[in-house]
Amino acid sequence: MSIRKPVSRRKLLGGVAASAGALMAAKTVSAACTITPYQVNGPFFPMAINDYDWDMTQVPGRRDRAEGQIVEITGRILNANCEPEKGALIDIWQANAAGRYLHPRDPNPAALDPNFEGYARLYTAEDGVYRLRTIIPGAYPVGPDWIRPPHIHFKVHPATAPSITTQMYFAGNELNEKDGLYMSVPEEARSLITIDFSNKTADGIPQGAFDLHVDVGPPLPI
Ligand SMILES: [Fe+2]
Repeated sequence: MSIRKPVSRRKLLGGVAASAGALMAAKTVSAACTITPYQVNGPFFPMAINDYDWDMTQVPGRRDRAEGQIVEITGRILNANCEPEKGALIDIWQANAAGRYLHPRDPNPAALDPNFEGYARLYTAEDGVYRLRTIIPGAYPVGPDWIRPPHIHFKVHPATAPSITTQMYFAGNELNEKDGLYMSVPEEARSLITIDFSNKTADGIPQGAFDLHVDVGPPLPI
């Protein structure tokens, strides 16, 4: 399954120009291979990463699984020529089902989930594929008038290109279109960072596809 739709270079670059000052940008390097829009790191990048497990829904030594809807996300890391990036390191972090990050500076009073890992560090396989099991994160407040929609942070460190950071969103969530970060992405490119769950794994877990295309040029400031 692919979530990608063709985006014309003219429309995409026009959209980027129209959103000057936005915290992300996207560009097309060929008709078939569109670079994934960048998004900010945010303040909750893990303080320390010591977990290389693909399944964030279970903490080693604990019997119960994380609260929330368990899902799988799989995809490929591809370079600007649409070639797979093998051995690319991916840092992934997100809020728990209540909207709370496992981070000491998260001011959200929502409860931590002792059965949710909160982050993962993965490496892509020979064919550029990664696989993640997690839960759909909760929304969380940023200020009196802003609630971040459920999203997952991805930071990709390709072996042959600069790192990029983005955020992945869930199709159909009503908060998406009220979110300044999501809406800063040109409309034509939003499908590149939005997934749905039209597939299921063999054991019945909703499965979404999220490919990331990384540039070979210098990274944008984040
Ligand atoms: Fe976030």
